[in-house]
Amino acid sequence: FYMKHIRNFCIIAHIDHGKSTLADRLLEHTHTITSREMQAQVLDDMDLEREKGITIKSHAIQMNYVYDGTTYIFNLIDTPGHVDFSYEVSRALAACEGALLLVDATQGIQAQTISNLYLAIDNDLEIIPVINKVDMDGAMIAEVKDQIMDLIGCPEEDILLASGKTGLGVEEVLQAIIRRIPPPKGDPEAPLQALIFDSVFNSFRGIIAYYRVYNGVIRKGDQVKFVNTGMEYEADEVGTLKLGLNPKEQVGTGNVGYIITGIKNAKEVKVGDTITLAKRPCEKAIKGFEEVKPMVFAGIFPVNTEDFEELRECMGKLQLNDASLVFEPETSQALGFGFRCGFLGMLHMEIIQERLEREFNQSVITTVPNVSYFAYATNGQKLTVNNPSEMPDPSRLARIEEPFIRAQIITLPEYIGSIMTLCLNKRGMLKNQSYLTPTRVELTFEMPLAEIVFDFYDRLKSLTRGYASFDYTPLDYRESDIAKMDILLNGDTVDALSALIHRSRAQDFGRKLCLKLKELLPRQQFQIAIQAAIGAKIIARENISAMRKDVTAKCYGGDISRKRKLLEKQKEGKKRMRQIGNVEVPQEAFLAVLKLE
Ligand code: GTP
Repeated sequence: FYMKHIRNFCIIAHIDHGKSTLADRLLEHTHTITSREMQAQVLDDMDLEREKGITIKSHAIQMNYVYDGTTYIFNLIDTPGHVDFSYEVSRALAACEGALLLVDATQGIQAQTISNLYLAIDNDLEIIPVINKVDMDGAMIAEVKDQIMDLIGCPEEDILLASGKTGLGVEEVLQAIIRRIPPPKGDPEAPLQALIFDSVFNSFRGIIAYYRVYNGVIRKGDQVKFVNTGMEYEADEVGTLKLGLNPKEQVGTGNVGYIITGIKNAKEVKVGDTITLAKRPCEKAIKGFEEVKPMVFAGIFPVNTEDFEELRECMGKLQLNDASLVFEPETSQALGFGFRCGFLGMLHMEIIQERLEREFNQSVITTVPNVSYFAYATNGQKLTVNNPSEMPDPSRLARIEEPFIRAQIITLPEYIGSIMTLCLNKRGMLKNQSYLTPTRVELTFEMPLAEIVFDFYDRLKSLTRGYASFDYTPLDYRESDIAKMDILLNGDTVDALSALIHRSRAQDFGRKLCLKLKELLPRQQFQIAIQAAIGAKIIARENISAMRKDVTAKCYGGDISRKRKLLEKQKEGKKRMRQIGNVEVPQEAFLAVLKLE
């Protein structure tokens, strides 16, 4: 094959605009998969992905498309839709020459349509706008066309109409890919330079890295070097990506392929790194490599303290598989031994927790998530604080900085008021307001990351009945009045419930948390005082009055087996309780903070 017959492209879209469904149609139409192999959304091959209906990891697949007697190679790189994974999107885009910009005909342009479009433009991609789901009753084709023309300044005839459901327009999309997306450039004679845009973990074969070759050729048996990590490996197997792996002797300039080197640790394979040859290395790494930084931190503890070693093993395995998970051991008086973990965002945190439970059969307690702060001590020392327990004593503290983000919200004009209220409440500052079309407005805020970590997105959705989309990018760190708030039960601090919070919020937060705990803690045989405190100052308090509890009381009469059952049940329940001083705390109390109104 000649390079001029290769097309590398991706599909970018707001979440749920039909990317995976359209990809399925392209695969079907090019006979890449037979109808027997066809199942809904073949690219989402993780169980969890199917269930959540979202693409977590990017994947790539090669199709052969015959047009006018010529066979073309199409490499489709699938990208995740959620903001937590935007670094992976940007690397996947860097591996392409073009992008299908998919817009749902019933939804129009949304926040991630725009942020992904900007990423694509930054990477000099040729954009093919496609209005999808035109089969639906609510399709607003003329209006969405206007939006797209306004946004990218293209003529109307450049916009394709398609339906991933009925297959309408799929042939036009395939032809547009040939005609409009340029073939890759590159020098086959130059030293190897390949960009890693994704990797997956396979329990039999180790890490499989996906790359796009910019220059040179990668051959089976080559001694390769990863430029940013400096590590060298032998290429045990290289090939292209069909529905499965398709081993080849070599993968040439402009093409997309995989490499297996026997690496077992996901940390050694970094998305954005450059592969070259050990003997004849390229001069420079491909630009744009970044270490992925966790944004949200929380503790993960085993429900049963004796399962700590098992949990450690599982976390290790999960990390082999997901290099963006970071963790280190931490101890909590309340929860025993566990791990402080860093996540890309709340969705990533949920996914990790679910994978631990489903794939590894671990029952875990996750503590209050927080962002990462900078604390400057009076002696000038700068500390990174990922855990409330690491916050220096106020007497030694000069100032604290917290991370800020730029938030972009696209909505209908009638919701501007309530969105403003929400964002100002979350310490946001309105930076810009602009009408994309008369019925679609874009609001830009600068806000503390901590304020969107919790329930921001859900609130935004319910405030606007779903007519708002949201995206954010990290900005900088700014000085802020952050306090450490502790929860005390009968005078004993529950370290797992401590939180770092803006001082203006502390009282309200403390009051709500005390109330919630009052609901969640069972009555005991003595009174329990629940207090929220900043340092020595109590800022909120609730009491749970004493009760004499006899679970067997209601089994009057002699049914001894029933009585025993109840007692056993109570014992089982106890295992899930944690003792704080003299107070027994059920597991769900540690999650109280996530359930605050
Ligand atoms: P993420 O992977 O989460 O970003 O979503 P996606 O963009 O891949 O969307 P997906 O393909 O999962 O489609 C979202 C929903 O829209 C699914 O319920 C699809 O069945 C439906 N859908 C997709 N394309 C069409 C279409 O052309 N017509 C109709 N009627 N429904 C569609």
